[in-house]
Amino acid sequence: MSAEPILQINELKTHFHTERGRVTPVDGVSLEVGRGEIVGIVGESGCGKSATAQSVLRLFDEKRLASYEGEIRFGGRDLLGLTPKQMRGVRGNEISMIFQDPLSSLNPVYTIGGQIVETLRLHRPIGRKEAAAKAIELLRLTGIPAPERRAREYPHQLSGGMRQRVMIAIALACEPRLLIADEPTTALDVTIQAQILELIQDLNRRLGMSVMLITHDLGVVAETCSRVVVMYLGQVVESGDVRDVFKAPLHPYTIGLMKAVPRLDGDRKQELPDVPGSVPPLHQIPQGCRFAPRCAFADDKCRSAMPELAALPGSDTRVRCWHAGRIAGTED
Ligand SMILES: Nc1ncnc2c1ncn2[C@@H]1O[C@H](COP(=O)(O)OP(=O)(O)O)[C@@H](O)[C@H]1O
Ligand SMILES: [Mg+2]
Repeated sequence: MSAEPILQINELKTHFHTERGRVTPVDGVSLEVGRGEIVGIVGESGCGKSATAQSVLRLFDEKRLASYEGEIRFGGRDLLGLTPKQMRGVRGNEISMIFQDPLSSLNPVYTIGGQIVETLRLHRPIGRKEAAAKAIELLRLTGIPAPERRAREYPHQLSGGMRQRVMIAIALACEPRLLIADEPTTALDVTIQAQILELIQDLNRRLGMSVMLITHDLGVVAETCSRVVVMYLGQVVESGDVRDVFKAPLHPYTIGLMKAVPRLDGDRKQELPDVPGSVPPLHQIPQGCRFAPRCAFADDKCRSAMPELAALPGSDTRVRCWHAGRIAGTED
């Protein structure tokens, strides 16, 4: 990766303060998003992908839900050190986020055009008329047919795919340097899913916008991203170049997830559990390697000591597994 990354997360811990005590859904996460790069964050539901993304935008601030440790470097600053007011200048402006369910983020009582105008005027000193014209331009940019007419419609009048395009238009309004897309296509059917991913890739290429793409589907990563970060139970277990990781996954969890990837001939495997068991809740974190209870390779060492995230000699992929050398075939 060339130059300084646009986003660099160092040893981030996000603690939630709940009635049951403190839990840590993000537990020492380090990752980078390079300039103009699309990075995939992948892992099953409950692994802390959304919590990581929401920490970057400090979305838990308002309700004093969370406290943080570590560093989130963006544009030469540590976002964790910004005041709430400074953070409001970052959100939706320098960093935008889109979610799985666009209906919950769109306001039902405002027109599509009106919502884009609001976003523009929140961060930019522009008049209504100019903003309205820009709104239509943004709707066109995201591939919405008849944008002048659509701008006057309300969210419920649009299909799921069109709503997600609207969310992307709103996210792009202020030309953010980083787009965080949290399962943006999960709620959509396969054809529309492919179109939205193509749109994100196209905007990445044309606008040079960096993207952090969160998904539970490694197939999406294979098609869209240049690098991948695999998360398990609040930690990064593997990260590297998409081609390297797909060619030679080193973490047993990644290997398990890859069994769910659709094959090129379209023969998607049965919906069998690809990794046996499930992600435990945060108050039941296993000793040692967190994946050990679900892992076919686990031995006593795995059950007692946590491996570090590190690269094997001669490899750029970073992996958190005692047996990675054996899996890579570089050790007995
Ligand atoms: N507000 C909250 N309070 C307590 N625990 C939470 C809260 N939000 C999420 N969690 C827990 O944090 C963990 C990570 O959740 P999340 O980041 O949503 O995972 P993912 O996006 O990978 O599915 C889960 O165990 C989830 O139950
Ligand atoms: Mg999530």
